Amino acid sequence: MAISTSPASLLQYTLLIIPTYIFILSPLSTILFSAPSLPPANSLDPNNTLVLPSPSLSCPNHTYPIHLLSRSPLILYIPSFLTPNERDHITSLANPLYAQSPIYAGTQASIDMSIRNSSRAQLPRDDIVQCIESRALALQGWPVDTYVERLWAQRYEAGGHYSHHFDWAGELSARGGGRVSTLMVYVACEGCEGGGTEFPRLEKPKGAEWCEYIECADGEEEEERTGVTFRPVAGSAVYWENFKPDGRGWEELWHAGMPVRKGTKIGLNIWSWYQPGFREIFDKRLVEAEKEEL
Ligand SMILES: *[C@@H]1O[C@H](CO)[C@@H](O)[C@H](O)[C@H]1NC(C)=O
Ligand SMILES: *[C@@H]1O[C@H](CO)[C@@H](O)[C@H](O)[C@H]1NC(C)=O
Ligand SMILES: *[C@@H]1O[C@H](CO)[C@@H](O)[C@H](O)[C@H]1NC(C)=O
Repeated sequence: MAISTSPASLLQYTLLIIPTYIFILSPLSTILFSAPSLPPANSLDPNNTLVLPSPSLSCPNHTYPIHLLSRSPLILYIPSFLTPNERDHITSLANPLYAQSPIYAGTQASIDMSIRNSSRAQLPRDDIVQCIESRALALQGWPVDTYVERLWAQRYEAGGHYSHHFDWAGELSARGGGRVSTLMVYVACEGCEGGGTEFPRLEKPKGAEWCEYIECADGEEEEERTGVTFRPVAGSAVYWENFKPDGRGWEELWHAGMPVRKGTKIGLNIWSWYQPGFREIFDKRLVEAEKEEL
C-alpha cells in the first residue's frame, strides 16, 4: 500500500496550534467557548498559537509504505515517513533551539528529569516543515476542525528518557476538543542503543517481518516478552489515534520513551488537535483581518 501526499490546495484551511497542554484542559478551549468573540488579531501571526500555512505552498511528491499494527486502537507503522533531506533539515533547524523539556500539570510547566529527561525545540515553519505538517493531515484524510500543533523536535542524549504516559487527557466530548492523534517520528539515532518507544499494554504482532521495526528476542526470552517496543529507525514513524469512538482515551496507549543508553536520539512529535467549530471561527477572523488591511 502506498500513499501519495499531494500539494498545496489541501492546506487552505489548515490551522496550527502550539501545545501548551498535555494533561488537562487546554487554555484554547477556554478562549473559544467562554468568549463569543473571535481569536485575537495576532492569532494570524505565524509565531502565535494559530497559524495558517501559505496557500501557495507546494510540496514535492512523497510516497511511503504503511503497515497496520493494530485496528483498535488504530496504530500504523510508517517506514520512510521522512526523506533523508528532511531529516537533515530538521536536525539543523532544531540544533540552536533546544531547551530542557517540561512536564505539565494542567497548564503549569515544570522540569522533572526523573519523569522526562530530554530537550526540545519548536521548529520554525519554513516550507519543508509545513510540507511535513501537511503530510500528517493528508495521512488522516484532512479531518474537519483538526489542526496540527506546532512541531517539536525532541533530543535524548545517553541517560535521557520519558516515563510512561498518555498523549490524551480526559474525555473528548467533555473537553470540547483534544489531541486526537500522535505521529512519533524518528529523525536520527546515530550510534544509538536503547531509545525505543515502548507500549507495554499492546499485543506483539506475530509476523517475523515486524522484527525489522520492533524489538524481538530469541526463543524463550521472546515468549516471555510482553508489549511492543518500536525501534528508533531513522525516518520512520508510528501513528496512533488517542480516543475511542465514544470519546474516552485508549488505556492501551500507555507508552514510554525508553532510556537512551548510547548515542543521541532525535524525535519529532506531530500532534493533531480536534477543536469542533474552530474552522468557522478562524475563517471569520481571516475575513476580518483582510478588511482591516484595506
Ligand atoms: C517570529 O519570531 C522570530 C524569532 O523569534 C522573529 O525573528 C520573527 O520576526 C517573528 N515574526 C513575527 C511576524 O513576529
Ligand atoms: C506529483 O504527482 C502528481 C500525481 O501523480 C503529478 O500530477 C505531479 O506532476 C507530481 N508532481 C511532481 C512535482 O512530481
Ligand atoms: C538526564 O540526561 C542527561 C543527558 O542529557 C544525563 O547526563 C543525566 O544524567 C540525566 N539525568 C537524569 C536525572 O536522569
